[in-house]
Amino acid sequence: MESQEAAGELVAGAIRELITAKPDAVLGLATGSTPLPVYQALAKSFAADPIDVSRVRGFALDEYVGLPPGHPESYRAVITRDVVEPLGLTPENIHVPNGDPATIRTAGDDYERAIIAAGGVDIQILGIGRTGHLGFNEPGSSFGSTTRIKTLTEKTRADNARFFDSPDDVPMHCITQGLGTILRARHLVVLAFGESKADAIAAAVEGPMTASQPGSAIQLHPHVTVIVDAAAASKLANLAYYKHAWAHKAPWEGI
Ligand code: F6R
Repeated sequence: MESQEAAGELVAGAIRELITAKPDAVLGLATGSTPLPVYQALAKSFAADPIDVSRVRGFALDEYVGLPPGHPESYRAVITRDVVEPLGLTPENIHVPNGDPATIRTAGDDYERAIIAAGGVDIQILGIGRTGHLGFNEPGSSFGSTTRIKTLTEKTRADNARFFDSPDDVPMHCITQGLGTILRARHLVVLAFGESKADAIAAAVEGPMTASQPGSAIQLHPHVTVIVDAAAASKLANLAYYKHAWAHKAPWEGI
């Protein structure tokens, strides 16, 4: 895409269409910087032309373990600030894995049960880490994994240090939906912007399927949309073909 704004509008359009057809749609929510243009475009769209979103449900991908309740960088706080409030969603309908160490041993299974009880995720928004992670499934994560504790790589902790006062404040552990959980969502939308994501995108889209590149798990999914800018696309070997397919996309295809 030519800009992050255009990418945001494209995905927001698909989400709006989904909610219009299914008012209690289940959204899979990513945090981090990448999905912000989607949430901003959705907020704009709902403000300009409101639709009923009171029954929309949502599941975040992941949460840090051990941050004090209410910490502004906990993903519960981030999802509330960046998604629930600007979009006017019903707070009780939006779930985030519980990163409280006291209940962490059962939190993963509880989260899996909640996703299943909701009927599964209709559209899963995903960013990708420089390590190739989806959610916080760092290299070595099983393609069959479900929601569980992971240890963050030092690369990911360094990348996320921008949100904290000091790099040492970035938690060491997280609870994340597994690759197996993510693969059960009915539609995956992977977004990536910037040169720093080019290797991870090439590995995810065109590399061998391997737990060493967790993003490559998307190759197993029946419906994936990858939305990138020129820099993030720069290491794709088949780029000319993808551009050709995009240029000839029929209006009835959807994203
Ligand atoms: C966020 C998440 C991560 C991020 C990834 C990219 O919930 O699970 O996989 O999507 O770390 O982060 P940004 O978008 O900040 O570059």
